[in-house]
Amino acid sequence: MATIIGGVATTHVPSIGKAIAEKKQNDPYWKPFFKGFDYVHYWLAREKPDVAVVFYNDHGLNFFLDKLPTFAVGAASQYRNEDEGWGIPVSRAIAGDPDLSWHLINALVADEFDITMCQDMLIDHAVTIPMALMWPGERWQGIRIVPVSINTVQHPLPSLSRCLKLGQSIGRAIASYKPELRVMVVGTGGLSHQLDGKRAGFINKEFDQLCMDKIVNEPEILARYSIHDWVEQAGAQGVEFLNWMAMRGALTGEVTEVHRNYHIPISNTAAATVVLENHPIAGRKAA
Ligand code: DHB
Ligand code: FE
Repeated sequence: MATIIGGVATTHVPSIGKAIAEKKQNDPYWKPFFKGFDYVHYWLAREKPDVAVVFYNDHGLNFFLDKLPTFAVGAASQYRNEDEGWGIPVSRAIAGDPDLSWHLINALVADEFDITMCQDMLIDHAVTIPMALMWPGERWQGIRIVPVSINTVQHPLPSLSRCLKLGQSIGRAIASYKPELRVMVVGTGGLSHQLDGKRAGFINKEFDQLCMDKIVNEPEILARYSIHDWVEQAGAQGVEFLNWMAMRGALTGEVTEVHRNYHIPISNTAAATVVLENHPIAGRKAA
């Protein structure tokens, strides 16, 4: 059976891609952020995932405001990136796992999640930047992904509690998947940021700390916030935390935080990275 080994959550700011292309990892501005990935590299080398289920939000590359699914699941054998206009190199295509995708899609629909299934799906910086951070030098060959896109762009957005449940449904589905795969889950974006309007540049360190504390073992407390309260606390783009909620939901065992890094700012964003381990609960089937 497949095993859920844990989850990684990380900011996905596009300028990180520019810093990588220009080899600025050790510049004073960037070092405190990139250093936070040393542990992630160690953890990935030790845990050896086969597949990453990646919860992210598309920013207008694959979906636009004319047609914007609340939840979309990739079912392609590979996912391409294209130039989004950020001035960062286009990433190499990333391999998919259509068998696992269809297993998750079937389980989600059976669980009454009316998702959009995508046999052709472009991935934007919200997938490629975290991949480049986790596996520098595009060393993700051998890793397959299942991208799951959550609408954080056009209101009405799904609630935090709905995204937690989406993750739980995917976690149960992974745990019932027959092949012996080591599966990790990834949540991208956040933490607090607002890119436009009167509060452009808004960051809320105190609220970010609360998010990082509660996501480990009390995500239900965060799930009580309404989207409008979340925007007030975390900024208009801070709602990317929905991806973190789904990631956490998919960890169906006992969860421990093994790494955290927080650094203000990267571009306009409070940059955060966490690694959560998932340990099967002895004598109990995954919740
Ligand atoms: C920035 C942050 C994002 O989440 C994003 O998608 C684009 C830009 C920023 O802080 O510049
Ligand atoms: Fe974003």
